[in-house]
Amino acid sequence: MKLNWGMIGGGEGSQIGPAHRLGALADGNFSLAAGALDADPEKGRAYAQRLGVAADRAYGDWREMLEGERGRADRVDLVTVATPNSTHFEITKAFLEAGFHVLCEKPMTMTVEEGEEIVRVAKASGRICAVNYCYSAYPMVREMRQMVATGQIGKVRLVVTNFSHGHHGNAQDADNPRVRWRYDPAMAGVSGQFADCGIHALHMASFIVGDEVDRVSADFASTIASRVLEDDAMVNFRMSGGTVGRLWTSSVAIGRQHGFDIQVFGETGGMRWASEQPNQVYYTPVGGRTQIMEKGESGLSDEAARLSRVAIAHPEGFPLAVANIYVDLAAAIRGEKRDGLPMAEDGLRSMAAVHAAVASAKDGGAWVDARPPMFRS
Ligand code: NAI
Repeated sequence: MKLNWGMIGGGEGSQIGPAHRLGALADGNFSLAAGALDADPEKGRAYAQRLGVAADRAYGDWREMLEGERGRADRVDLVTVATPNSTHFEITKAFLEAGFHVLCEKPMTMTVEEGEEIVRVAKASGRICAVNYCYSAYPMVREMRQMVATGQIGKVRLVVTNFSHGHHGNAQDADNPRVRWRYDPAMAGVSGQFADCGIHALHMASFIVGDEVDRVSADFASTIASRVLEDDAMVNFRMSGGTVGRLWTSSVAIGRQHGFDIQVFGETGGMRWASEQPNQVYYTPVGGRTQIMEKGESGLSDEAARLSRVAIAHPEGFPLAVANIYVDLAAAIRGEKRDGLPMAEDGLRSMAAVHAAVASAKDGGAWVDARPPMFRS
């Protein structure tokens, strides 16, 4: 039987809304049963109904949705929170406390304290709180993770990752309201580009290497003078197993489009993956030739094979990476254990790293502990 799915945010014209709908509905696990899709109640109600939601479950705002759903026998099984960042904490907490499973967009919260609170509330409620680090669900990223776990490149010495695009590089467009808020502390919090894109890269490093980020040393720059928050950052990090990390994230790298890639260098080999060519991993054993590993080819790990649904060489892409998150969420809601689903603990770790990087950048790049207080022993 299909699970009932509800969505908050992700209204018409939003950036991430379509990827969630394509992803959630791709495998027949969920049907869109309820929604509070837009900051404008009327637009949200109308759009939800056009997407097939019944009129009495096309809500004007999330509080109305919480009240409407909590008493229903057929209430939604999962709520996706795809609103702007500053609202994530309040909405996610309220739905977890009311007993709903939640998939929250990144960044999960604005502060470390809020992140810890979400981890506690999720634990107390027994509900799933996942965070949409969807790049970790690309099949070939899972392959890299498996290769590290099975020792195919030896102990990982170094991770180098970039998430740098150029879409906010036009100084003439810096006052455009859709761009400006991202660099305004009142709207975006303590960090601009690092909290927006850098945390995907940091999560990916932990996900593939299998270790947590322990400490960071950061250099932040606002290359467009009117910006308070950084539009470019270089973050060095160290991981719990000793791996050295280098991360560059920028929104003024004109000519770079999506610009997310990662290289993992171990004692006996190196690997490279880029989100703009997600079907391939370049793998080089020490002293050997570079091989191109292809999504869908035989001999890949079970996990990479499971998460690839179309034949070799056909692009699957971003919405199906999001769909992989929903596949595992559906399984987890039905009681199966699924490894690799990004959870509230990962969202909290990101927040702690963001705040540590901000403190480091203010202190001339000093090394700062990036572990959430609740995970320090
Ligand atoms: P957007 O500004 O394009 O869309 C936001 C949507 O939420 C709009 O439809 C708006 O009307 C609606 N909304 C705003 N406040 C609301 C409220 N209180 N209740 C209900 N609806 C509300 O924003 P975008 O780019 O789609 O980002 C949304 C979230 O998704 C952000 O947290 C962002 O960081 C995250 N995101 C994640 C990505 C990923 O790769 N995982 C990629 C892009 C965005």
